[in-house]
Amino acid sequence: MSKILVTGGAGFIGSNFVRMMLNGSSHSIINLDALTYAGNLENLTDVSSNPRYTFVKGDIADSGQMEEVFAAHRPDIVVHFAAESHVDRSVIDASAFVRTNVQGTQVLLDKSRQFKVGRFVHVSTDEVYGSLGAWGFFTEDTPMQANSPYSASKAGSDLLVRAAVHTHGMDCVITRCSNNYGPYQFPEKLIPLMIANALESKQLPVYGDGKNVRDWIYVTDHCEGIRAAMERGQAGEVYNFGGNAERENIYVIKEILRLLGKGENLIHYVKDRPGHDRRYAMDSSKARATLGWEPRHTFEQGLRQTIDWYVQNRQWWERVRSGAYQDYYKLQYATR
Ligand code: NAD
Ligand code: TYD
Repeated sequence: MSKILVTGGAGFIGSNFVRMMLNGSSHSIINLDALTYAGNLENLTDVSSNPRYTFVKGDIADSGQMEEVFAAHRPDIVVHFAAESHVDRSVIDASAFVRTNVQGTQVLLDKSRQFKVGRFVHVSTDEVYGSLGAWGFFTEDTPMQANSPYSASKAGSDLLVRAAVHTHGMDCVITRCSNNYGPYQFPEKLIPLMIANALESKQLPVYGDGKNVRDWIYVTDHCEGIRAAMERGQAGEVYNFGGNAERENIYVIKEILRLLGKGENLIHYVKDRPGHDRRYAMDSSKARATLGWEPRHTFEQGLRQTIDWYVQNRQWWERVRSGAYQDYYKLQYATR
């Protein structure tokens, strides 16, 4: 049994990972999270009384605070999710992205080295590879060509992790995954935003021509990949995870409307996102061959499950959409 320090465990993917590890392993979990607008402890109410679970509120970019957390908990493994994660917010202001994603990752690497953490799993994204044309897939050898402040900050963090392996001999693995969807995703990302807006009969803002392509993966499939990389990955290696489900945004939006029985009159084309990456698609053959991983959900199954969850958990997203998020929403869509 290991002690796993999970950073960002109150966010979307982190909370799904914490739940999976508490229900499906005997490891102890220390969930370290700053509880920004995206962090919500309600995501974990069903498992928070588990005796193997501890929550610590803390900021990964605060070195002094991290020193105290590592000294108090002495983790064997770090699984690092904590990040500013939304591209549109990084276009408006990148400073928190540099602080948390770049500086915060270096602080965690320093503390992990100091306190002799056995394995560091860095959760990254396909967006570090940039954008694809109509053909081809990202492999682990595709050069990093990040285009947004978000993806640039993630690419910076990936390079810091790489440097920790090469310079200090640390045992780190990097996972890069395509677009996740599923329960507990903050309704600023495409799929939960469109579901919530459709349920409220609000307009569905489509950027540009709606033909940008993302490779959608159900969140628990990603979490299983992270667990496989944590358990069976080789130090210094990168592992790509994708859902094998490339879809144009407009297809996804129309499917959501169809499954909710809503009319396409809610679709509203708006000004494109600056620097909008056209297409992402992952080659996950390394993870399949070396980790024995594969996604369990088709896009159609996963989307139905996700819609059902948002229909049944309306209170969750109505609460999440209140307060500070409302100010951001007005700013983001005011000029479109
Ligand atoms: P999220 O925005 O839902 O959650 C991020 C969490 O990090 C929140 O709980 C937040 O409170 C916490 N956090 C932010 N700043 C912090 C700080 N300074 N100190 C401590 N905690 C802090 O994000 P997500 O979608 O769950 O993504 C998790 C990770 O997975 C990120 O590293 C992201 O880059 C990566 N990723 C996401 C996707 C995706 O589709 N969502 C795809 C690939 C990779
Ligand atoms: P998003 O969920 O922000 O993920 P990412 O930009 O990290 O891939 O966006 C997914 C796609 O949906 C992307 O092509 C942008 C598009 N999009 C819209 O068309 N409208 C929206 O309101 C949002 C949030 C995204």
